[in-house]
Amino acid sequence: MSEYNIAVVGAGAVGEEILRVLQEHHFPAREIRVLARSARTLTVAGRNYAVSVTTPESFDGIDIALFAGTEGEKGAAVVFGPEAVRRGAVVIDNGADFRMHDAVPLVVPEVNAAALQSHQGTIANPNCSTAQLVLALKPLHDAVRVTRVLIATYQAVSGAGGKAVDELKAQNCALTESRAISAPGPAFPVQIAGNVIPQIGGFDENGYTSEEMKLVQETHKIMGDDSIRVTPIVAARVPVFVGHSEAVYVETERPLTPAEARRLWAEAPGVAVLDETGGEDPYRAYPTPLFAAGKDTTYIGRIRQDLGNPNGLNFWVVSDNLRKGAATNAVQIAESLITQNLLGKR
Ligand SMILES: NC(=O)c1ccc[n+]([C@@H]2O[C@H](COP(=O)([O-])OP(=O)(O)OC[C@H]3O[C@@H](n4cnc5c(N)ncnc54)[C@H](OP(=O)(O)O)[C@@H]3O)[C@@H](O)[C@H]2O)c1
Repeated sequence: MSEYNIAVVGAGAVGEEILRVLQEHHFPAREIRVLARSARTLTVAGRNYAVSVTTPESFDGIDIALFAGTEGEKGAAVVFGPEAVRRGAVVIDNGADFRMHDAVPLVVPEVNAAALQSHQGTIANPNCSTAQLVLALKPLHDAVRVTRVLIATYQAVSGAGGKAVDELKAQNCALTESRAISAPGPAFPVQIAGNVIPQIGGFDENGYTSEEMKLVQETHKIMGDDSIRVTPIVAARVPVFVGHSEAVYVETERPLTPAEARRLWAEAPGVAVLDETGGEDPYRAYPTPLFAAGKDTTYIGRIRQDLGNPNGLNFWVVSDNLRKGAATNAVQIAESLITQNLLGKR
């Protein structure tokens, strides 16, 4: 079997998880180069990695560069992504910088692995909240065509990076029943401990946040269907460490019963139904972030016919945002590039 030289750029919440997933998947890596802004040693799942400062030369000889740095002008993918591609690597980026570029496939392998065939060196991983949504929508869309989606998200703090996790930990320690922390930390606009914040990202002129609009645009691109009317009711941050939850209403062209939806999901890759309300084990009644954390599967529960529309279905979907929402999906893209023989294609 061929082996590949891998670079992991960013050694934060997602970068660490990528290293863990590469180990768990026994990824055929000849070398794993870990890059960040500062040099140090990082230990992940019992293995030590030397973290080096990222330079253009860091990408010499690299086959696949998995980017998990911060976003924007000074972020790793914008500064070093094109350079890595020039030096022969295929870049898989976890950030939002390239997701909507026409030349960049936006991929969840279970949904649109074929989109990788048109890659020109850079491939984007979707936002965590989109990945789990499209996994749930795809089997329904293929069977009865989804025409409308209403969604509210309840997103964990790790979705905002390692510093946001530290902020919730510190605020949890300071929190008492009688005293709220008045000064918010840098990661969130107001205190997150003991709170729910109906804002992730900045607001646009219509009052939607950037996180909410990602759900619309990225869903259209991955599903390859702009006609699905997606309304993000809200994308909210909740004081959960790992695991995003979403309440979803779908309208379909042809009616779909909960039993049929369960059957479609049972046969679909990447998702599992967890819908045993009234059973013995409370953790199997419906998915929760605690249950989904550390797992690659996206779980669906609370599946119900809509009360006002026979073509409407309500459900609850939960996934580990650091894994299927980021690291696992990125590694699966790398694996799909190998199996589709798309690495040396440029
Ligand atoms: N967290 C999630 O659930 C999630 C889900 C989907 C996508 N994403 C995306 O994944 C990316 C990483 O997120 P994260 O949560 O892991 O962030 P994080 O915990 O803040 O870590 C960011 C890492 O990037 C490194 N970095 C930043 N700028 C760099 C540059 N110019 N050159 C090299 N390295 C640089 C930092 O290096 P130092 O450690 O040396 O400072 C740090 O290790 C972001 O784009 C994020 O939007 C995150």
